[in-house]
Amino acid sequence: NSKVFHMAIFDCTGVTVQGIRIIAPANSPNTNGIHVSHSRHVRILNTTIGTGDDCVSLGPGTSNVLIRDIECGPGHGISIGSLGWQDGEEGVRNVTVDRAVLTGTTNGLRIKTWAMPNSGSVTNVSFSRVTMNRVANPILVDQNYCPRKVDCAGNSSGVQISNISYTDIEGSSATPVAVKFNCSGTNPCSGIKLRNIRLTYKHKRPAQAKCGNAGGSASGEVRPPSCF
Ligand SMILES: *[C@@H]1O[C@H](CO)[C@@H](O)[C@H](O)[C@H]1NC(C)=O
Ligand SMILES: *[C@@H]1O[C@H](CO)[C@@H](O)[C@H](O)[C@H]1NC(C)=O
Ligand SMILES: *[C@@H]1O[C@H](CO)[C@@H](O)[C@H](O)[C@H]1NC(C)=O
Ligand SMILES: *[C@@H]1O[C@H](CO)[C@@H](O)[C@H](O)[C@H]1NC(C)=O
Ligand SMILES: *[C@@H]1O[C@H](CO)[C@@H](O)[C@H](O)[C@H]1NC(C)=O
Ligand SMILES: *[C@@H]1O[C@H](CO)[C@@H](O)[C@H](O)[C@H]1NC(C)=O
Repeated sequence: NSKVFHMAIFDCTGVTVQGIRIIAPANSPNTNGIHVSHSRHVRILNTTIGTGDDCVSLGPGTSNVLIRDIECGPGHGISIGSLGWQDGEEGVRNVTVDRAVLTGTTNGLRIKTWAMPNSGSVTNVSFSRVTMNRVANPILVDQNYCPRKVDCAGNSSGVQISNISYTDIEGSSATPVAVKFNCSGTNPCSGIKLRNIRLTYKHKRPAQAKCGNAGGSASGEVRPPSCF
């Protein structure tokens, strides 16, 4: 039940994490699985993580990351962020998450930025072949993150999110809103691509998608229908 992060990859180039298993209780606070920041060329392969916080989180200055064959749950899912806590942060780019299974997590694929004007960016991210089992927020972009309402009320995020693709994402949402893009009013999300999305609410009920300041396109079968 490691405090903060079980494994931290910081200021590294060329790391492969393969075939590991991280287990902490669902109710253990702030026990992230693997956190990557200020690093490039990182691969996380064939890994199982169940904790009380994020499965894998990617912080500022992270690029060229491949996450493939990962199982998450319980916990808070796979997260890019939080970003935008400090001004001048390096962005996150060229991230691929392919073949993931999330079970009983609070989020599935999340991008999270503080509701603060600090600049930053997230671009060239691809999520593909992901199965959600009873995930509360399967697809989520939250640029209004401000949990304790500290210093950020009234501000919108200065982090620019662009070119994010979601392909072949299926399964069940534990809440009615399975897809939510809550982007920044001053830096709207652009180039979000949805392709072959089949998410339902619980068993077979239709789910909903909600957008705020998000632009993109949908192709193939997309359920819930996109809100762009
Ligand atoms: C994944 O890792 C497990 C050990 O955790 C190993 O038994 C299995 O062979 C690995 N599978 C692949 C495809 O590498
Ligand atoms: C993107 O990251 C992958 C590793 O996942 C790497 O092989 C590829 O060269 C990177 N592409 C660019 C344009 O940097
Ligand atoms: C995004 O990917 C494209 C194609 O690989 C590349 O041309 C572009 O420079 C990338 N953008 C960033 C910010 O890495
Ligand atoms: C968007 O990102 C993907 C990588 O996820 C890259 O292959 C593609 O070229 C990028 N497109 C643009 C317009 O940058
Ligand atoms: C925006 O945030 C800055 C510091 O990050 C703060 O000084 C300012 O009061 C905030 N503006 C509003 C309208 O809340
Ligand atoms: C986005 O987040 C803000 C702040 O939490 C909230 O007031 C708003 O209703 C959200 N928008 C959508 C579309 O969910």
